[in-house]
Amino acid sequence: MSHRTLFIAGNWKMNPASRASAVALAEAVKAGVGADTSVHVAVAPPALFLEAIDKAIDSSPLGLAAQNMHWKADGAYTGEHSAAMLLDAGCTHVILGHSERRHGMGETDAQVNLKLHAALAAGLIPIVCLGELLAEREAGQTESVLQTQLSGSLAGLTPEQMGGVVLAYEPVWAIGTGKVASPEQAQDAHAFIRRTLATQFSPAIAARVVVQYGGSVKADNAHGLLSCPDIDGALVGGASLKADDFLGIIQAAQAVTTHEKARA
Ligand code: PGA
Repeated sequence: MSHRTLFIAGNWKMNPASRASAVALAEAVKAGVGADTSVHVAVAPPALFLEAIDKAIDSSPLGLAAQNMHWKADGAYTGEHSAAMLLDAGCTHVILGHSERRHGMGETDAQVNLKLHAALAAGLIPIVCLGELLAEREAGQTESVLQTQLSGSLAGLTPEQMGGVVLAYEPVWAIGTGKVASPEQAQDAHAFIRRTLATQFSPAIAARVVVQYGGSVKADNAHGLLSCPDIDGALVGGASLKADDFLGIIQAAQAVTTHEKARA
């Protein structure tokens, strides 16, 4: 399989309700992961808790992701946070263009693209989300939707920059619904994304980019998804809010990694 290290990220969304519970969750994930670096792991708490979580995961291999950012460096942007602020709070990663922002808040590919350039310029690792709606899948438009999102969201990146971007394929109909994409459906979409990256950038870059799957990933379906050749990890919502559930997904990724290494 691939030489790409699997990457499991927990998107906590607007949870949990208190800083104390957020710190407890992060500490439990940290304890469960220990010093293992065979799989990359990150958590994405609400912005208000970033600093507290940064302290809680200190001296662990865990990455810290914000769930969104603004593309401007400073100014009159009420309610927003800049890349520099996220770095100052200890972030290593930032999720961009999550479907809840695209479809719930009208975020466009052009805005995601501005954010992406700002994140890369600041040295944050972006996790750019894309994926089709149920109606688009049923109308046979999945590939054209993904193509449009890839060309719009990734516009103007150099191949070098693209090599440092993480993508997350998240079919909108699978997010928070319990309706996970089958490994075949997910693998087909991931393979399409990689073929598109090969044309848009280069085959070598396409082979390097980590593409996570997201949408109702749980400990019991993670192994099937992560065993697919073009699925390089998971962006986990609901199941990242309980340490044991999230650690179960990480263990599935570690098992896939160990198995693939043994076969190599
Ligand atoms: P879910 O969310 O795992 O709860 O479906 C995934 C996501 O929104 O990233």
